[in-house]
Amino acid sequence: MKIAVLVSGNGSNLQALIDAQQGKQLSGQIIGVLSNKADAYALQRAENANIATAVISHKDFPNRESFDEAMHQQLLNWQIDLVILAGFMRILTPNFVSKWQGKMLNIHPSLLPFYKGVNTHQRVLNTGDRLHGCTVHFVTAELDAGQSIAQSVIEVSLNDTAESLAQRIHKLEHFIYPQVAQWICNGQLSWENGKAYFNQKPLERPIQFAQL
Ligand code: GRF
Repeated sequence: MKIAVLVSGNGSNLQALIDAQQGKQLSGQIIGVLSNKADAYALQRAENANIATAVISHKDFPNRESFDEAMHQQLLNWQIDLVILAGFMRILTPNFVSKWQGKMLNIHPSLLPFYKGVNTHQRVLNTGDRLHGCTVHFVTAELDAGQSIAQSVIEVSLNDTAESLAQRIHKLEHFIYPQVAQWICNGQLSWENGKAYFNQKPLERPIQFAQL
C-alpha cells in the first residue's frame, strides 16, 4: 500500500508512522508527505527519513475547491492508496473527500462523537469529564464525523492541564494510529458501501485499546 501523510505542523504522528514502517510494524510504504505549510516541522521529519515532500499552500489558491484539486493531483502523481491525515488543519471539500472515501483516515484528540473541532483538551477540562482519549476514524465530508474505528481512553486526573492532556493523548495516538494503518495495509480493516468492516464483519463500535 502506498501511503501519503497530510500534515500542517509538528508531525509527531507522522514520526510514529515512519518509526512503525522502519520497525516493520507497518507494511505499507509512506511515499510522500504533503503539507499546506512550508515551515511545518513534519517536513523535516519526512526529509530525515528520505520521504518525498510536497508543499501546497492553501494561500496560493482562490478557494478550497482549487486547493483540494491540487492536493488530489499530487496524491494521484504519487499513486496513493491510503491517505493519512496527521494534524492536517484544513477542512476538506466534500468533492475531495468523496474521491478518497474509505481510503482516508484521521486521528482526533477526543472520544468522538464528543468534542469535534479544536481545543478538545481545554473543553474536556471545562466540562469536568473524568474520561478523555483519542479516536481514529474514516474521513467523511462532515468534520470529525466519519465512522470511528479505534479509540484509546485515559482518566483525567485533578492535576491535568490542557498541556498535560495533550502530552498524554499524543502517547496514545502514536500507539493506535500505526496500528489502524496496518489493519488497512494487511486487509483486516476495510470500507464497503459506507461502512467499516473488521475481519470481514461490520464494525459495530470502535475498537477499544486498553488504557496506557
Ligand atoms: C494530534 O493531536 C491529532 O490528534 C490532531 O492534531 C495533532 C497532531 O499532532 N489531529 P502531531 O502534528 O502529529 O504532533
